[in-house]
Amino acid sequence: MIKLEQVTKKYGATVAVNGLSLEVNEGEVCVLIGPSGCGKTTTLRMINRLIEPTSGRILVNGKDTSQVKPEQLRRSIGYAIQSVGLFPHLTVATNIATVPELLHWDKTRIARRVEELLTLVGLSPAEYAGKYPSQLSGGEAQRIGVARALAADPPILLMDEPFGAVDPLTRERLQAQFVAIQQELKKTVILVTHDLDEAIRLADLIAIMAAGKLVQYDTPETTLSRPASKFVHDFVGSDRALKRLSRISVESFIKSAPTVTINASIKQAEAAIGSRRSAWVVDDKGQLLGWIDRTDLSQVSSISEGMVTLESKDIALWQNATLREALSRMLGQGFKSIPVVDEDTKLIGEVTLGDVEAATAEAEE
Ligand SMILES: Nc1ncnc2c1ncn2[C@@H]1O[C@H](COP(=O)(O)OP(=O)(O)OP(=O)(O)O)[C@@H](O)[C@H]1O
Ligand SMILES: [Mg+2]
Repeated sequence: MIKLEQVTKKYGATVAVNGLSLEVNEGEVCVLIGPSGCGKTTTLRMINRLIEPTSGRILVNGKDTSQVKPEQLRRSIGYAIQSVGLFPHLTVATNIATVPELLHWDKTRIARRVEELLTLVGLSPAEYAGKYPSQLSGGEAQRIGVARALAADPPILLMDEPFGAVDPLTRERLQAQFVAIQQELKKTVILVTHDLDEAIRLADLIAIMAAGKLVQYDTPETTLSRPASKFVHDFVGSDRALKRLSRISVESFIKSAPTVTINASIKQAEAAIGSRRSAWVVDDKGQLLGWIDRTDLSQVSSISEGMVTLESKDIALWQNATLREALSRMLGQGFKSIPVVDEDTKLIGEVTLGDVEAATAEAEE
C-alpha cells in the first residue's frame, strides 16, 4: 500500500531522512518513533507530497507518487498534524468538512458525515459541531483533528503525534478509541509518536528511526524481545517485560468484585465483603462511588459514613485499558486491585496485582 524506496531528504547540509526504505501493507498500523529531529515528520510529509524527496521513490498503491497530482494523492490520504492545525475561525463542523467540501459533496451528505465522525471520536454532535477550536480542550481538539483526517474516508491515514498534547488519562482513552476505530475501519496508518508505550499498544509494526535512518522495523513483540542494536536496546529500556503489558488488554482479566450499593445496610455490606478486606461502593445505577473497608463497617451506621470516596476518573480503569495502565494505577495508588468501569463509570469488576504478575511472568518466558 505504501512503499518507500531509498528515500532521502536533504536541507542543504542537513540530511533529514537518509536512504529510508519502508513498506506498510494495507490495513496495517506502522508507528514511527525515534528521537526528536530524526526525520519522522519529514517522512510523513514526503508521503503526501507536502515536501518532495531529494532522491528515492515513494509508491502508494503501486503508483509512483511523483507521477500523481498532489491534490489527487491527498484525497486518498488523511493527515492529522503534530499541532492539530484546526482552522481557528471555523467551527468544528466546518473544520471536519474541509475535504468533503473540496470534493463538492452535497450538504446533507456532509452534515451526515460530520455527525457520524463526531460520534465516532466520542464527542456529542449537538454539543460540539458549532464550537470553535478555542473552545475545545487539547484532547478534544486532537479528536477533531483525527475526525477531520477521516472525513472523506481515505484508505490511508498519516498521523503526526495525534495524541501528543493531552494528559495521560485522556491519551489512554484516545488510544483505546483509536484501537476500536481501527478494528472497524482497517485503515493503512502511519502514526508518529514519542511515546514508546503508545507505539507498543497501537502498532502492528514499529519503525525505529535515528538520524534519518531506519534502525529496526519489527512487531512490538520482536522489538522488545530482540532489539537489533544497542541503540534500540537502550531506546526500549530495561523494563521491557513491563512494556509488553501495553499489548495486553485488561478485558480478559476482569473478574467480579465484592460490591455494595450506597444505601445497603451494614449487614448486607458485611455479607458482600465476606472474607475480603474491602468492597467497592456503587450508587443505585451501579456507578462507582468509592470503597469501604471491612474494619470500618463495625464503627459506622451507614455505608456513606464509612465509605472512602473515589474520583473514579483518577483510579478506575476503562474496560479497554491495558495491563500496563492497570499496573501504573496500582503502583500510583497503593491498591492491589483496581476497579474497572464502563463508559458510564458503572463498575464492571476489578483487576488484581496477581493478574499483572502472572501476565508479566508469562511475557518474560
Ligand atoms: N524546512 C526545513 N529546513 C531545514 N531543516 C529542516 C526543515 N525541516 C526539518 N528540518 C530538519 O530535518 C530534521 C528532521 O526534522 P523532522 O521534523 O522530520 O523531525 P521529527 O523526527 O519529526 O522531530 P520531532 O520529534 O521533534 O517532531 C531536523 O534536523 C530538522 O531540523
Ligand atoms: Mg515531528
